[in-house]
Amino acid sequence: MAKEINILGIETSCDETAASVVADGKIVKSSVVASQVKLHERFGGVVPELASRAHIEKIYPVVTQALEDAPIKIEDVDAIAIANQPGLTISLIVGVTAAKTLALATDKPLIAINHVHAHLQAAMIEAESIDLPAIALVVSGGHTSLYDCESALELELIGSTIDDAAGEAFDKVASILGLPYPGGPSIEKTAKNGNPKAVRFPRSMLKKDSLDFSFSGLKTAVLYHCQGQDMKGESKVSEMSDQEIADIAASFQQAVVDVLVAKTKRGIEKIKAKTVLLGGGVAANTALREGLQSMCEAEGKKLLVAPRSLCTDNAVMVASLAYHKYKAGIFADLTLEAKATS
Ligand code: KG4
Ligand code: ZN
Repeated sequence: MAKEINILGIETSCDETAASVVADGKIVKSSVVASQVKLHERFGGVVPELASRAHIEKIYPVVTQALEDAPIKIEDVDAIAIANQPGLTISLIVGVTAAKTLALATDKPLIAINHVHAHLQAAMIEAESIDLPAIALVVSGGHTSLYDCESALELELIGSTIDDAAGEAFDKVASILGLPYPGGPSIEKTAKNGNPKAVRFPRSMLKKDSLDFSFSGLKTAVLYHCQGQDMKGESKVSEMSDQEIADIAASFQQAVVDVLVAKTKRGIEKIKAKTVLLGGGVAANTALREGLQSMCEAEGKKLLVAPRSLCTDNAVMVASLAYHKYKAGIFADLTLEAKATS
């Protein structure tokens, strides 16, 4: 039997400090995620300086824990993988520095991973085989991107948001509605009691064959609905019943899902996709998972969705994708830098 390839993955691109050991790209030996939700909650969003400082405090204990849980000694891992882009530069730097230091100290190969591509790997990790090409949708706090996916390592960006990302829209609308941070899970919970047809919010499709996304108009429509068209009045949210708030949350969520499903369908047609992949924090949303599932059934396409535990930021997806780079012999060197963009 071939020797197992164990990769230590590290993720610090935004507000989770995460480390994981994955064997052969599929067998999860450990996964540790130190969340910073409590730290950022009172600011209603991620504060980069606080995030970076928390990564510095957590990186050593998180990596140590991941190695202990696996269990494996650092000398026995085959490579060290780091998500070095895109994200908050001062957060990324912490993980990149830790990974480079470990690689140097242990003389192990270093593998650079694109965080957004890793979100898609989370959708592929449990699949035995995948019919390609696939249309791949990543919906996170920072990205709404459609890719033409020819393999785990061949991803061509064919659509992206021209303003807010889908997760960002969830977070902003939750804040307008006075719902707790992070907004996505709060909207989903509140929407369960609401009527998705109660308010007809706009669905921005852009040009007829565009695969790009725009969510800022939808966010503004929710704001107008809550504050009046001239935006001069006080927010009416404090006077709204729980039912009214639930109806707005459900109607907003439905508008986002409709756009994401319609654009993915356009993507299928454009690249003649056989499979649809879904990953990223917003992929945890049940309405989105179900919306895409029904569309895929109607179109006769297979949908592969990241397991809920791997939708939001984690290092399993980093270590798993790194296996494909390891096999292809694609390594980074110690000049590797953190990059805010892809
Ligand atoms: O992928 P992720 O953890 O971080 C980035 O790479 O940005 O995504 C975080 C985003 C946040 O905007 C959060 O509100 C959203 O994912 N999110 C959700 C749900 N869970 C997390 N959005 C909608 N429904 C959810 N259940
Ligand atoms: Zn992410």
